[in-house]
Amino acid sequence: PWADIRVFDTVDSTSNWVKSQQQSPLVCLADQQTAGRGRHGQLWDSSSDENIYLSFGWEFDEPPAHLGLLGLWIGVVVAEVLEKQGMQGHGVKWPNDIYWQQQKMGGILIEASNLSSRLVVGIGLNVNMAEASDIDQPWTSVSEAMGRSVDREQLLIALLDALFTSMVEFPHVAVKEFKHRWNLWDIVRGQQVTFFEGDEQVSGIPSGIDDSGHLLVKLESGAINAFNTSIRKVRW
Ligand code: BTN
Repeated sequence: PWADIRVFDTVDSTSNWVKSQQQSPLVCLADQQTAGRGRHGQLWDSSSDENIYLSFGWEFDEPPAHLGLLGLWIGVVVAEVLEKQGMQGHGVKWPNDIYWQQQKMGGILIEASNLSSRLVVGIGLNVNMAEASDIDQPWTSVSEAMGRSVDREQLLIALLDALFTSMVEFPHVAVKEFKHRWNLWDIVRGQQVTFFEGDEQVSGIPSGIDDSGHLLVKLESGAINAFNTSIRKVRW
């Protein structure tokens, strides 16, 4: 399905490389990144060559009205691939972090390409990484979650396959149906979460997503508000 796949031993960031190219669809994979990026300008530890660092460029013929759900959609696709590989007990932490037992295993970064209306989707997944120096939160890996070492190539192939199919499918998905699917993987539902709204700290209990993919949170006042800023803290 993917016609163009470029594989690097080392690159600054697979997402940067895809951004620098014209064509799409286009995939970039690397064993290591020297400047891996996470969301909010954070660094993505990319020193281990036992992980997946994957980016692809994609241009929709017509951007779907529910484009705001794409990041959540990709999270669900990754979670489903891992399930097919035999993993259990994992899920997606809104908006698009892959978690297992309250530890982060992977993350997704969606950016607009500077060259066109193309989107660049970056996925980082800890596969067989045993140690890391640059991660400031509890983390895990696919191999830890599965209790065995994992064939990175085989996982990559399964992931690339599912991603291509799901990108073709995405414009046609019904939002209501997706919300059901999301609910199966949502791990923050029912937990106590904290946000910052400007300087103000807001706490509440997530209860799913709205049609734009924003997180619905039941506040202490009983009101349900939609949030689209990161969760600062989850009390698991
Ligand atoms: C996050 O959770 O903050 C998102 C992390 C995304 C990391 C991936 S690794 C492949 C691609 N290239 C990058 O520089 N970042 C993404």
